[in-house]
Amino acid sequence: MRISGTTRLVGIFGDPVTHSLSPVIHNAAFKALGIDMAYVPFHVFDKDLKKAVGGIRALNLVGVSVTVPHKERIIKHLDRTDDMVRIIGSVNTVVNTDGELKGYNTDAFGYLRSLKEEHGFDPLRKRVILVGAGGSSRAILYEFLALGVASITLVNRTRSRAEALASEYGGLFPAAEMKVYTMDEFASCEGAACAKVIGEADLIVNTTSVGLMNVGCLDLPLERLSRDAIVSDIVYRPLETAFLRKARGLGLRAHSGLGMLVHQGAVAFELWTRKEAPVDVMRQAALEALKTIE
Ligand SMILES: NC(=O)c1ccc[n+]([C@@H]2O[C@H](COP(=O)([O-])OP(=O)(O)OC[C@H]3O[C@@H](n4cnc5c(N)ncnc54)[C@H](OP(=O)(O)O)[C@@H]3O)[C@@H](O)[C@H]2O)c1
Repeated sequence: MRISGTTRLVGIFGDPVTHSLSPVIHNAAFKALGIDMAYVPFHVFDKDLKKAVGGIRALNLVGVSVTVPHKERIIKHLDRTDDMVRIIGSVNTVVNTDGELKGYNTDAFGYLRSLKEEHGFDPLRKRVILVGAGGSSRAILYEFLALGVASITLVNRTRSRAEALASEYGGLFPAAEMKVYTMDEFASCEGAACAKVIGEADLIVNTTSVGLMNVGCLDLPLERLSRDAIVSDIVYRPLETAFLRKARGLGLRAHSGLGMLVHQGAVAFELWTRKEAPVDVMRQAALEALKTIE
């Protein structure tokens, strides 16, 4: 990469931030397209977030990515947000247009793009089981509902969190059928209602951190899924989680979190550069980086 007097800067705000693959992915993309930009990590502590956001304007950065723990708290420091952000309440991308900062969340859009690219999945009238009720689930659930799924079953360790999410989004999208199970109820899957939910599902997605760095494995009755169902995990370290390994062992289609990582970055790249992202270059860069750290 050649840094010159005209090079523009993009970055990522997080705490911690050293684990992020975003610098690798974006710098590979800038290089591939000959774009005069560089992407660097910024370790931003919570107490400094407001000043760091001021720095985006003061230093005329193109924008930033935002990761844990700033995705929610950064919103109050921005000038504008995308409509979706107002509902899901978290930002992972900021675009600086002449000092005006607008926040977006590209996670769910990136997830859906990857699912479409790898498995041709169109959410319209599909039946989806969403495991988890945290920040990523909130974003992905919104996108599924906006794209017209027939039903969503939320499965979460803590029932109250899933119920609150179902009730909030159920009011916004009354056409979709919504059910809630705890993880334990779903794991034992007693009764005809639960068996019907899993037997009719087109897709089951893990949005929890279970399986991250090989810690834990979701013990869900994947053997009751139909042969056409897709099993998806947004965790990408390791690339094949125990959940996906079990799905593959049962002959089911498996979808890893790498695609979401790449495509959420690709959408951000397109917001910053207004150029189509070189997705294959970004995926290759991520895969190579993962090989060295796994
Ligand atoms: N592929 C990508 O690009 C991408 C993007 C974003 C995030 N991710 C990954 O997605 C995962 C979730 O991130 P997030 O930001 O949504 O996290 P979050 O907001 O903290 O939510 C965590 C979720 O995991 C559940 N959970 C945590 N530990 C559990 C356990 N031991 N047993 C059962 N459930 C457990 C929580 O259940 P409770 O409600 O019961 O606490 C909650 O539903 C992380 O691993 C992250 O790395 C991947």
